[in-house]
Amino acid sequence: MLSVTWTVCFLFLWFSLLSSASSLRIPPYDEVARVARFVAHQCDWASMATVSSHSPLQGRPFSNTFSVSDGPRGSGTGVPYLYLTRMEVSVQDLQVNPASSLSMSLAQTDYCRLQGFDPQSPLCAHIILSGDMVEVEGVEAEFAQKALFTRHPEMMEWPVDHGWFFAKLNITQVWVLDYFGGVKKVTPEEYFNATLHRQHH
Ligand SMILES: *[C@@H]1O[C@H](CO)[C@@H](O)[C@H](O)[C@H]1NC(C)=O
Ligand SMILES: *[C@@H]1O[C@H](CO)[C@@H](O)[C@H](O)[C@H]1NC(C)=O
Repeated sequence: MLSVTWTVCFLFLWFSLLSSASSLRIPPYDEVARVARFVAHQCDWASMATVSSHSPLQGRPFSNTFSVSDGPRGSGTGVPYLYLTRMEVSVQDLQVNPASSLSMSLAQTDYCRLQGFDPQSPLCAHIILSGDMVEVEGVEAEFAQKALFTRHPEMMEWPVDHGWFFAKLNITQVWVLDYFGGVKKVTPEEYFNATLHRQHH
């Protein structure tokens, strides 16, 4: 009897730990635009692909890691902002050709590991955002700074002589892998229209 009680207690603890650890409440997979916005907001970094401008890789795909933020935690806009310097190898590619893709995955959070989803499994939701990288100015640069510096405070200490500027991906394509059956395409209109949080009526 005692052991049954202990087992029940243990199971209860286990489930409450599991549910708090995986407190990421991903939207249903068929609400594809919401899933995309969710992934874009959860991820603090992305792999950015550019067309290389550097010998001997000219014209070849080149992928590199960047810190991103679509807004302070809890207020995501869907727009990935970046803090860049023209001294950086991928940023030099962007100056020749601004076309780029950002890949973000819930494998970057605890979610996939806790659920037992391999990063390549479509169940481990991931997105590929494609468009041109553009510099932002004025009010939008102020927002980008707030979005990035709240989630990447170290940026405030980055060397001032590197000529840092704020940029965003001007999204033209959103591709989502969040379930079996192949990649799903979401238009930028659907993506920006989606709400991160469930609407209560
Ligand atoms: C973003 O892309 C759209 C569609 O190609 C274009 O019309 C718009 O001018 C671009 N915005 C910027 C800031 O480059
Ligand atoms: C925008 O969102 C609303 C509410 O979720 C939905 O009813 C509508 O179909 C969406 N429009 C587009 C273009 O995605």
